Amino acid sequence: MGRFSVDDLSREVEELLGLGLSSVILFGIPEDKDEEGSGAYAAGGIVQQALRSLRERYPDLVLVTDVCLCEYTSHGHCGVIENGEVANDATLELLARTAVSHVEAGADVVAPSDMMDGRVAALRTALDDAGFGETAIVSYAAKYASAFYGPFREAAESAPSFGDRRGYQMDPANVREALRECELDVAEGADALIVKPALPNLDVIRAARERFDLPVAAYNVSGEYAMVKAAAARGWLDERQAAIESLTAISRAGADFVVTYWAKELAAWL
Ligand code: PBG
Ligand code: ZN
Repeated sequence: MGRFSVDDLSREVEELLGLGLSSVILFGIPEDKDEEGSGAYAAGGIVQQALRSLRERYPDLVLVTDVCLCEYTSHGHCGVIENGEVANDATLELLARTAVSHVEAGADVVAPSDMMDGRVAALRTALDDAGFGETAIVSYAAKYASAFYGPFREAAESAPSFGDRRGYQMDPANVREALRECELDVAEGADALIVKPALPNLDVIRAARERFDLPVAAYNVSGEYAMVKAAAARGWLDERQAAIESLTAISRAGADFVVTYWAKELAAWL
């Protein structure tokens, strides 16, 4: 994990490939943010630039992109605001443009993390219409409103400037809602489902694994990683053991793959 310029990113990827890793997920932090999050779907946006550069240099690298507006909007919400609220349908169009622009720039897989209703169908239709019927959609299907996204939002300067994300992210007290969200995403054409955060939701990972035939991924988010890092820095626990224990538990719960900021360190440890 880290924040990189496009040039530094190439060096990082070189190192990751040397360690045996084969895929990365990209998030962007634009130069400027605006109300509509236009940096997310600009042909010359930061993620699009990074994709072009990596695609050219590393043809076999699997390039996954996070599709959302919150890193690009001045207000930090995952969609556009109308009458003081996130407007679901107006946002879908912008997310679809974002996904298509990522694939045009070289992405293999798009991962919508916004939690708007109907976004998997919107992305599928837009990608198919643009001739990208083969591009996979890995949906953040069960994404809970969570305190554990704190370090990410600090890094991406994407904390909402008003309100919170509970209007579109899920209530942690609810597991059936997560399964309903997964079901909708499966029906809309998702190719894999993500549960997030991972450690507070091992039961949801297990339930999704048992209920659906698609691959289930778990996202071991920034706060889960930062907690262990911070404790290790104080000498309170052994980072390597705590990381491996966490990732083992996530796999044991049923995750077919895990998105984790420990990927690079883990590759060196194992
Ligand atoms: C964008 C997005 C977020 C994360 C992944 N995609 C932030 C959020 O929803 O606030 C969280 C990642 C992490 O905490 O590691 N919607
Ligand atoms: Zn978002």
